[in-house]
Amino acid sequence: MGTRKVYTALIALFAMILLPATDSRAFHSGGVAECTGCHHIHDASSSSSLLTGTDISSTCLNCHGASGASSYRISTPDADMPAGTPPGNRTPGGDFGWLKKTYTYSPRTGTTSVEAGEMHGHNIVAADFGYVADSRNTTAPGGNMDSAQLSCNSCHDNHGRLRRTGTDAAPVFGITGAPIIGSGSYKNSSVPAAGQAVGAYRLLRGSTLQGAGSGGKTFNVVFNAVAPATYNRSEATTHTRVAYGRGISDWCATCHPDMHTATSSKMTHPVNQMLATVVTNIYNKYRGSGNATGTTATAYDSIVPFQSDNLINYTTLKAQASDDGSVKSGPVGSDRVMCLSCHRAHASGWEYMTRWNATGNEFIAVDGVWPGTDSPSTVASQAKYAQGRTVAETTKAYNDKTMVYASYQRSLCNKCHAKD
Ligand code: HEC
Ligand code: HEC
Ligand code: HEC
Ligand code: HEC
Ligand code: HEC
Ligand code: HEC
Repeated sequence: MGTRKVYTALIALFAMILLPATDSRAFHSGGVAECTGCHHIHDASSSSSLLTGTDISSTCLNCHGASGASSYRISTPDADMPAGTPPGNRTPGGDFGWLKKTYTYSPRTGTTSVEAGEMHGHNIVAADFGYVADSRNTTAPGGNMDSAQLSCNSCHDNHGRLRRTGTDAAPVFGITGAPIIGSGSYKNSSVPAAGQAVGAYRLLRGSTLQGAGSGGKTFNVVFNAVAPATYNRSEATTHTRVAYGRGISDWCATCHPDMHTATSSKMTHPVNQMLATVVTNIYNKYRGSGNATGTTATAYDSIVPFQSDNLINYTTLKAQASDDGSVKSGPVGSDRVMCLSCHRAHASGWEYMTRWNATGNEFIAVDGVWPGTDSPSTVASQAKYAQGRTVAETTKAYNDKTMVYASYQRSLCNKCHAKD
């Protein structure tokens, strides 16, 4: 470790010691953080922009890729996840460590399947942490962005300038207007008083006035959402419920425009479309393959989330976000299907960054348990179900959620369609 890395690690440690893990205002505080957390003015690692890491994403990962899964960490170091051990973080966006998990298995005698790690999500380029550009997708599928440019700041504004002023019920977004007093991402974020602002959700880009990040894409849509105060946690018994509001699918479509319109050559699934009566009723009753005994009050599933109507009302969004199981209600007809109903934003344990095993095989769970090579169940340990993963890896890919579906459970597309 060079002196600069030690220095950055110390800043991260300092931030952690000063503030409890759940404190949402430690480094960026919703806006631009202390300059020297990312820039070294006289002895930088990168000549371009005097960064503390070799490149932009490595600069971020100096803190966000540290050992010990908790709070703001979103990348597990290689040393912490040897073969058979999953990445540790369970944030809504997902742990980039899944990009390093290649699974090789033999679904039938004489055949070998290789599921490349790079298929598990957004391959950010971070040389200091061994992340390289995707070799299969040279550009964003359904778009033209150069994959070699994909960095944290392609999506997040490294200087966190987008801010939310106005009231929670009627927010106004801009890159100036009032000083940012703290993060605006959380259920417990402050309501900005007159003359104050809070940061945009997760420092995500959302205004053409911010200019473009790495890869050249500017955004003209805000990603409206609210996360619960604790968001990197086990979902064994209670969900980590992010309340997603207006703009999610259009935001993703900034780089994937052809994954968005039904008229595109990709013939994509509807997004930004209301669930309406039929799908809403199915979602609220669905508990597993062949089981339609659910009730609206407890129907929510964070593995298959939906967008709340077309809301930008942060009072309502804050009421929906939860980390203690207190808000479990399913959708109403005006709620919508969005890209994040099926995908995560960073990476996931599954191909194409889906939230559940959507492309693997007909069953996602068998014999009443999550599959895995080391499962005591002779069915669940079969290679075609385990797909090269240990039980710990399969379970972690569902953020440690207990297998509560049917004993032989099919794809969670059925949470909205019940074709099983
Ligand atoms: C969270 C990390 C981070 C923090 C904190 C940060 N920067 Fe940066 N900054 C970056 C990155 C990454 C780039 C390179 C962007 C690129 O090359 O596209 C950059 C680029 C710059 C540039 C050159 C390009 C431009 O956008 O004009 C300036 C000037 C700059 N930063 C100033 C500052 C100042 C002043 C502060 C403190 C108020 C600061 N930065 C805090 C990450 C950070
Ligand atoms: C010096 C350590 C450090 C560096 C470098 C760093 N971060 Fe952070 N980051 C933190 C800490 C601590 C938190 C949690 C507290 C907070 O939000 O201020 C955090 C939180 C965040 C959040 C959530 C903020 C919110 O309000 O919801 C995002 C998004 C984020 N960082 C992105 C980045 C990106 C992108 C970079 C690189 C351009 C970066 N960080 C560089 C320490 C760091
Ligand atoms: C393709 C766009 C994209 C890229 C690239 C990206 N992020 Fe994110 N990030 C998001 C989105 C969208 C969310 C909100 C996810 C949600 O709430 O479901 C998010 C959430 C986060 C969070 C909050 C915790 C979580 O996972 O929900 C942190 C911290 C963060 N990002 C840091 C980073 C860092 C550091 C990098 C680079 C190593 C990075 N992001 C790269 C889009 C991106
Ligand atoms: C800043 C541009 C950008 C944004 C915004 C963006 N993506 Fe991507 N995405 C890319 C690029 C570039 C690739 C190709 C590189 C790769 O697959 O790692 C990609 C690849 C993908 C893949 C294929 C992954 C694989 O391994 O096959 C999926 C799925 C995806 N994106 C979904 C999303 C979703 C969902 C969102 C919104 C949360 C989103 N993207 C936002 C640039 C972006
Ligand atoms: C109903 C679930 C669902 C929704 C909604 C959805 N996707 Fe997908 N997506 C998938 C599945 C499953 C795949 C795997 C490949 C396939 O079946 O096409 C996939 C594949 C992809 C790929 C990789 C395509 C390739 O050629 O490699 C990208 C990129 C992508 N989705 C982006 C998006 C974006 C952006 C949105 C929102 C505008 C979105 N998806 C909405 C389920 C969904
Ligand atoms: C969050 C709910 C949700 C999830 C999850 C979901 N869908 Fe859908 N799906 C919808 C809605 C809403 C529609 C449009 C209304 C309708 O056709 O009932 C739709 C429509 C469709 C259609 C008809 C498309 C058309 O153009 O007529 C197909 C096929 C489909 N979905 C397949 C899938 C598959 C496969 C998956 C899993 C990869 C999936 N869906 C996951 C909500 C969902």
